[in-house]
Amino acid sequence: MKRFVYLNNKFINFKTAKISIEDRGFQFADSVYEVIAFKEDNLIDINFHLKRLKFSLKSISIRYKFTNSSIIKIFNKLIKMNKKNIGLLYLQISRGVQSRSHIYKNNIKPTIVIYILEKKFNPNIKNIKCVSAITYPDLRWKKRDIKSVSLLPNIIAAKEAGKQKAYEAILIENGYVTEGTASNIWIVKNNYLITHPSNSDILKGITRDSIIKIIKNNNLKFKQKKFKKELLYNSDEVFLTSSSSMVMPINKIDNKIISNGKIGKITYKLAKLYNLKIN
Ligand SMILES: Cc1ncc(COP(=O)(O)O)c(C=O)c1O
Repeated sequence: MKRFVYLNNKFINFKTAKISIEDRGFQFADSVYEVIAFKEDNLIDINFHLKRLKFSLKSISIRYKFTNSSIIKIFNKLIKMNKKNIGLLYLQISRGVQSRSHIYKNNIKPTIVIYILEKKFNPNIKNIKCVSAITYPDLRWKKRDIKSVSLLPNIIAAKEAGKQKAYEAILIENGYVTEGTASNIWIVKNNYLITHPSNSDILKGITRDSIIKIIKNNNLKFKQKKFKKELLYNSDEVFLTSSSSMVMPINKIDNKIISNGKIGKITYKLAKLYNLKIN
């Protein structure tokens, strides 16, 4: 099946899509991105993704202007052209191409790439699968609220998780949990849902925000609070959230079994309510 990408205002064949070696996204990770789950023409939480994209672009002064309706049209056309009913849409905007120099010029034209990734979501809620995680030092920069493509510390940690046959690495800074390499981390302790506050230490996940709304609508107990690795190990339930994994229960972290190895009650409730968006 032929794959199509959107590159700088054109829909073209995936195989022939090319970007300059002097693109600043390639040379400096001078670039931001979004990953959006879709099912048919339902782009999950689209307005929140576009709001965060605008925040990321503004934070590093990349001047790429778009309206929500114009970019959504491009997304829908690309999904149709690729003949995919369900999956992930990847969008990246770099500052653009310039002769190599740390200092960027103000007038360069951003590069935009959009393409579709295959993805099977955690399927039937009745047999939702649990995954394991490891902990790993958080080696990242201090502006993690910007969804930047400088993901080297994330991929080093994720590779270590992979080596240990774990699904995710949970990042630890000064003894505290920040987030996962590609997800936000949640615990349940004494019926309280707890996750890291949204500040520049973590990415403010779109799924995290949707879960907070569900928590409030269902009158569940909730705090945004930093928590230590020891509490993570001793939690009643642990789960992660992201656009690509939705609500994913974690039943083992390092060598500690969580929630007797099964999905916890509160995690199940949230997974059922959230994952409906795609099931
Ligand atoms: C570091 C990090 N934290 C959290 C998330 C979850 O964000 P979202 O729910 O918007 O996918 C991601 C997603 O890629 C991420 O990379």
